Amino acid sequence: MDAITVGLHERSYPIFFGANKLSMLGSLCAGLNLGKRVAVVTNPTVGAWYFEPVRESLVSAGFSVNRIEVPDGEEFKNSDTLKSIYDWLIEFGLDRGSFIVALGGGVIGDMAGYAAATYLRGIPFVQVPTTLLAQVDSSVGGKTGINHERGKNLIGAFYQPRLVMIDVAVLDTLAEREYLSGLAEMAKYGVVLDAEFFGFMFDNADKLLARDKDCLLATVKRSCALKASVVEKDEREGGLRAVLNYGHTIGHAVETLTGYRQFLHGEAVAIGMAQAAKISEAMGYSGSEDTERVLALLAKLKLPLDLPPFKASEYIEAICHDKKVRDGGLNFVFNNNIGHFTIARVADVSQLTRICGIGE
Ligand code: NAD
Ligand code: GLY
Repeated sequence: MDAITVGLHERSYPIFFGANKLSMLGSLCAGLNLGKRVAVVTNPTVGAWYFEPVRESLVSAGFSVNRIEVPDGEEFKNSDTLKSIYDWLIEFGLDRGSFIVALGGGVIGDMAGYAAATYLRGIPFVQVPTTLLAQVDSSVGGKTGINHERGKNLIGAFYQPRLVMIDVAVLDTLAEREYLSGLAEMAKYGVVLDAEFFGFMFDNADKLLARDKDCLLATVKRSCALKASVVEKDEREGGLRAVLNYGHTIGHAVETLTGYRQFLHGEAVAIGMAQAAKISEAMGYSGSEDTERVLALLAKLKLPLDLPPFKASEYIEAICHDKKVRDGGLNFVFNNNIGHFTIARVADVSQLTRICGIGE
């Protein structure tokens, strides 16, 4: 299988890419000296499709496999579900010579990764991401965690997987909105990190929408390589890694204001990217033709662009409550033309809402 490496010294790991290759998982794990026992954490939706081929592959490579199934949904990414994972790990007798496989989208990956980071002070884990968002974003880079009732992802750890195995064929069963939502995160890499990749997505939008396997293999791999290049330089988000939050400042505000019910994460990010492109132009970081290209790509990918109708004061409050706002100022990610970025302080958040044309 095709592979790249995330280079993090002793925490380095490979990401493998293929289509219809779940049967390779066992032999890939066998090469890593992870121990003989494995718990596969999944949910009923993903498990119904993919647990059996994953189990078969692991068993034929000599592993003893247990299944841990947690309920499907972001609302279950919490301490109760985490405790149930610990309970099963103890019940199955998993020891330090064991590992976890996270089989699912970002919810499963984040939660199973955090269980691995903390169970017995840390056992190895492997990511098998099954949503496009998880394949291009959450399975790479080692952010793990759960939500708290006071906010998303408030409890967590940086804990890198030992291996990520990406099979783009599993995306065939993903719901259309979930799939398009992942395309927003993919587009993000092009806008701020790679103009050529942006152009490739622009020219191949139809193939992406059709889930063409060759096109997905190329674009998912490029997305992971771009994310890896950022994480390698700034694993714990001291500065540079914040570029991955392009579009997220306003995207998070949209999610908060709509109670996380109206938009999927990637849809809210697409709206946030459309606004970030306008803000970048208005503040002199890019030209009008760049903004038009960003908006056109998002529209080609059938993503929403328009802000839901809340008042400027509501947007400002939502933006200022975001955990990334510190000392009354906000670090905003601007696209510098297309393919480059600048992170700069915005002292007056109302400047952003004015540029976006949000009324009082
Ligand atoms: P998700 O994990 O909830 O998956 C979305 C839905 O798709 C679920 O119902 C799931 O069961 C279903 N599904 C998954 N794979 C499928 C498949 N192949 N076929 C059919 N259905 C399938 O959502 P997500 O968008 O993957 O992840 C969102 C989570 O990721 C959030 O909790 C977010 O905080 C987290 N996240 C983490 C990072 C990170 O760096 N760790 C980055 C971005 C997002
Ligand atoms: N998804 C943003 C990050 O991994 O930093």
